[in-house]
Amino acid sequence: MSIEQRKLDHVRYALELNPSLHNGFSDLRFVHRALPDFDLADVTLATTLGGLSLSSPLLINAMTGGAGETEEINRNLAIAAKRTGLAMAVGSQRAALKDPSLVRTYAVVREVNPDGVVIGNLGAGATLEDAQRAVDMLGANFLQLHLNAAQELTMPEGDRSFRGILESIQEVVEGLSVPVIVKEVGNGMSTETFRKLADAGVRIVDVAGMGGTNFVSIENRRRTGLRFTELEREWGQTTAVSLLEAQPHVFQFDLIGSGGVQTALDAAKCLALGAKAVGVAGAILRPMMEYGVDTAVEIIEHWQEELRVIFTLQACRCVKELRERPLIVRGETAEWARLRGID
Ligand code: FNR
Repeated sequence: MSIEQRKLDHVRYALELNPSLHNGFSDLRFVHRALPDFDLADVTLATTLGGLSLSSPLLINAMTGGAGETEEINRNLAIAAKRTGLAMAVGSQRAALKDPSLVRTYAVVREVNPDGVVIGNLGAGATLEDAQRAVDMLGANFLQLHLNAAQELTMPEGDRSFRGILESIQEVVEGLSVPVIVKEVGNGMSTETFRKLADAGVRIVDVAGMGGTNFVSIENRRRTGLRFTELEREWGQTTAVSLLEAQPHVFQFDLIGSGGVQTALDAAKCLALGAKAVGVAGAILRPMMEYGVDTAVEIIEHWQEELRVIFTLQACRCVKELRERPLIVRGETAEWARLRGID
């Protein structure tokens, strides 16, 4: 199976499979404030990540590149990012490191959006040299290193060896020309993982929790033999749980909430749990592929408007204030937090 075919399979199955409703966000509730004492126009969505200013906390998360047909997808995502001021990540650049003819399927993102915030992507375990090549390929502002053990282990042709990954991450964090974001791909994070990442010097983490795009499910569809059905159904922490798991380390990281974010309200809940930015992949890809880039832009703009409304109804003028608002945590998510001793 070629890498190019795999990239196309991932897009196809991500579009076919519906995101799960068990993303934990429905366990979280804001406490309505009936007395905001400023104007909607006073609200700013600006935030910072790794010291860089972003005009919006929403970002288009890593998806694709690495096959001829993905160039068009990345071009359209980059157009949407440019028109809405969002930062945007490309999918894993490993294919282009192996085959330079594929560089254009990623570099198109920088061509379309020369002044935007562009984020490169490689698997954690990449060498410092490859990580720097990935950054240079795009003039990237950040590099994401993805942790995807559940995906690799259920992928027929996936990696089976993970030894030394943390040391590789540390080497890249220390030597790379831009800040590193460590992310999952949809199975979430735990306090134990945050602790190890903090010790390795990582300062930006995207939890990429369970509840949206599910790579065990995608890899199951790509298998010819028996499937990992149980793992598909329940392996991992939701985004809500992952952000709660981050609480003991909340001051050590710039957190990104992502995984199953389907609405502006989900995004606001991530911010209230301490995230500085919110990543969205499937929920932008799906309408863009079905209805085109104008619809994707319309949806993102509506989310930004809805975020301003939510900020106002929380009497918050900015992301920093929303990050300090309490949320009511109920149901399975509250039970998890209680059993894990997280306040
Ligand atoms: C992804 N994702 C991903 N992540 C990553 O770090 N490197 C990658 O190459 C890819 N590839 C990829 C392809 C496709 C088609 C999708 C939809 C997603 C994972 C993505 O960045 C994100 O972490 C998860 O999709 C969870 O977010 P959503 O989709 O639930 O918003």
